[in-house]
Amino acid sequence: MDFPPLTLVKLAILAGLTISSSSSCYSGDLEALRGFAGTLTNGSILLSWPDDKACCFWDGVFCSPDTSNSSRVTLLRLADRGLRGSISALLSNLNELQYLDLSGNALSGGIPPELSSLRRLQHLDLSHNALSGPVTTIAAINTIQSLNLSSNCFNGSLSDLGAKLSNLIHLNISNNYFYGSLGPGICIGSSLLQVIDLSMNSFSSELHEEIFSDCSSSLIELQMGSNSLEGSLPSSIFDLVSLQILSLPFNDFTGYLSEKLSNLLELRRLIISGNGFSGQLPNVLGNLTMLEQLMADSNSLSGELPRSLGDCLNLKI
Ligand SMILES: *[C@@H]1O[C@H](CO)[C@@H](O)[C@H](O)[C@H]1NC(C)=O
Ligand SMILES: *[C@@H]1O[C@H](CO)[C@@H](O)[C@H](O)[C@H]1NC(C)=O
Ligand SMILES: *[C@@H]1O[C@H](CO)[C@@H](O)[C@H](O)[C@H]1NC(C)=O
Ligand SMILES: *[C@@H]1O[C@H](CO)[C@@H](O)[C@H](O)[C@H]1NC(C)=O
Ligand SMILES: *[C@@H]1O[C@H](CO)[C@@H](O)[C@H](O)[C@H]1NC(C)=O
Ligand SMILES: *[C@@H]1O[C@H](CO)[C@@H](O)[C@H](O)[C@H]1NC(C)=O
Repeated sequence: MDFPPLTLVKLAILAGLTISSSSSCYSGDLEALRGFAGTLTNGSILLSWPDDKACCFWDGVFCSPDTSNSSRVTLLRLADRGLRGSISALLSNLNELQYLDLSGNALSGGIPPELSSLRRLQHLDLSHNALSGPVTTIAAINTIQSLNLSSNCFNGSLSDLGAKLSNLIHLNISNNYFYGSLGPGICIGSSLLQVIDLSMNSFSSELHEEIFSDCSSSLIELQMGSNSLEGSLPSSIFDLVSLQILSLPFNDFTGYLSEKLSNLLELRRLIISGNGFSGQLPNVLGNLTMLEQLMADSNSLSGELPRSLGDCLNLKI
């Protein structure tokens, strides 16, 4: 069948418009991505990111579903790509970015201060790289809900993360070189925190009585193993009524374990091995009906296992 020439032209124009409006990304985002790739010295994206302007279709890049003239990059997922080199400050120009995952690469150097202008970022995963230096930049990104900096070479203190991360739900800074006191509060301004993993660092302090006060009803998992924390557990730890995992092995905690442990009715894992706890395990463990794992070896505990343990029907030994 024959199309009148005019309609063909119209179709071509329409098709051309459709293609260009959906494929070209916002020019600032394009520059930011090219700048980011430009400071890398290795990695698959250097080969797979084509030399065109359709950055929303590039490997690991996702844009907002916004179908207007130019789409904005909202998600960058480049885990395990062999990326090497430093993180470019130009990445901060992706100012609609909500999700950034650079985990499992070989990135080194610090977090550029410019990244504090990523004012929509909710998920930041830099875990399993060789990044170093302080993390103060992150303290300004108060939209963050999930922060994973684990297994890097970061240092500084917990207070470097500030007290304004009021949307934070998951915090994992395990396996770094953080040090010093955990300060009066561990919740860094969030009353929503569910998971805190500070294990395998060099934190050394006693736990302040008010340390959990801002997130005491939200906390589900608390991991602080393999640090140099000391003193007796603050009684406020037994007010964490949602707690399912309490893991404090390989520290220098001392003192008796309180019978108030029976407040933690949701507790599934209790790991306190390798500390200086003394006295007997309190005879209330049987009240913790959800308990699945108990590790209390290598302490100065005395006496027999409490009889009430027999009531822990879920316990696997
Ligand atoms: C370079 O990146 C590739 C993936 O693109 C990866 O297989 C390789 O291990 C990386 N090399 C180094 C030295 O990081
Ligand atoms: C793109 O759309 C935005 C609003 O959605 C508008 O401000 C801007 O001027 C448009 N740009 C072009 C090149 O049409
Ligand atoms: C923190 O890390 C940086 C970068 O690796 C290093 O220069 C600095 O000496 C470290 N500071 C401390 C106190 O370990
Ligand atoms: C980092 O932590 C976040 C939140 O807990 C999690 O969703 C993500 O899978 C973790 N990253 C890796 C590489 O395990
Ligand atoms: C934190 O990250 C490490 C790996 O870097 C992982 O093994 C650990 O399970 C994570 N912690 C939590 C609570 O998810
Ligand atoms: C433990 O459970 C028993 C039986 O349900 C109850 O009588 C007792 O008060 C509980 N003990 C504590 C310390 O909550």
